[in-house]
Amino acid sequence: MPLKLFDHKQIILGVTGGIAAYKAAMVCSRLVQAGAMVEVVMTESAQRFITPLTFQALTHRPVRTDLFDLSGDNIPHIALADKADLLLIAPATANTIAKLAHGLADNLLLAIALATPAPILLAPAMETDMWQHPITQANVERLRQLVKQINIIGPATGRLASGGTGAGRMVEPEEIIGLAGTILARHGDLAGWDIVVTAGGTREAIDPVRFISNHSSGKMGYAIATAARDRGAKVTLITTAALPDPFGLKIIKVNSAEQMKEAVLVATRQADVLIMAAAVADFRPQVVAEQKIKKQSHTESLALNLIRNPDILAEVAKQKADGHGPRMTIGFAAETEELLANAQLKLANKKLDLIVANDVTATDAGFGVDTNRVTLLAADGSIEELPLMSKQAVAEAILDKL
Ligand code: CTP
Repeated sequence: MPLKLFDHKQIILGVTGGIAAYKAAMVCSRLVQAGAMVEVVMTESAQRFITPLTFQALTHRPVRTDLFDLSGDNIPHIALADKADLLLIAPATANTIAKLAHGLADNLLLAIALATPAPILLAPAMETDMWQHPITQANVERLRQLVKQINIIGPATGRLASGGTGAGRMVEPEEIIGLAGTILARHGDLAGWDIVVTAGGTREAIDPVRFISNHSSGKMGYAIATAARDRGAKVTLITTAALPDPFGLKIIKVNSAEQMKEAVLVATRQADVLIMAAAVADFRPQVVAEQKIKKQSHTESLALNLIRNPDILAEVAKQKADGHGPRMTIGFAAETEELLANAQLKLANKKLDLIVANDVTATDAGFGVDTNRVTLLAADGSIEELPLMSKQAVAEAILDKL
């Protein structure tokens, strides 16, 4: 699925001659799937490890290998260097790093690296001794000092082609893609924004092993948090969900509404936006049993007395009235009846700028599923009914409103 972040981005993938070149095919494939326009440039030695045909098949474009190929309209290295949004060199050998550090341009990839104004991401891969050699280390340092747009990821420590173990493995494709995304995002439309997102259903303890919760999976909140990150925002995700931690977010794990409230009030003091996608329990057990409640002591029935939890959005509104807190607050209204009327009421009562209303009785929208059908109601009275779409697309639509 195309990610907005990579969609239509021009990425030059430089592949140099190391055994990790085979992993560059994975990187290439992921970038293409994410919607990027990938131009692959290979050095001569890279072609000994993997053929241009592999990359041509993945990108549906010719692979560039020759500095002196003038078959196109323009001088290839200048044309490519100018239009790139990112130059990613994976794997980057000790030899290529050395040449880059000294401004050599004796192949197409090096010439592009010297000519491009785009950010550059290097993923070094080599044997440990080569990586730790003082000359390689000095070259890396020199690149960091002299080339403002350079970013270096890894190398990781692990098993190497020689059979030994040590520093020098190229970091895994997923991690490279993650950092590539972060680099592209620095230029996104939410760059400079500080956004706090909550996700998941709160868990209200009954005893040390049991809690009361709801069906919220956290997927909507995670989709918003990652979409905001990909558009350049600094994101704090306050979550109860047991989903994998997304790359590049500040993640705060909480359980109860009380804990979520504390975390939100701290995180939003400096934030621009709070997006409350969490399903916060309105009530919690008045007493949390210190020990597991045993059924022997409650043969017929067990009554739990519930008391009200704080309304987190109301607390944030109070903080805002005192001059602290986010410039904008966005809430969700999960309803089973009277969707718009209930959402309007919450928009006003909770002093929100926007409310995302969804009917959680629909089987293809709301809790647990990957799609959602929502209506956006803004404080200025505008109402936008969105069709059924992926939670990712809903997230983008919400962020568009910012
Ligand atoms: N919310 C909150 N604190 C609570 C309960 C809800 O901040 N104690 C937030 C939710 O994260 C959501 C919005 O308020 O963004 C609306 O939540 P919802 O559960 O739909 O509404 P409630 O205010 O709890 O009202 P009700 O349960 O009566 O519908």
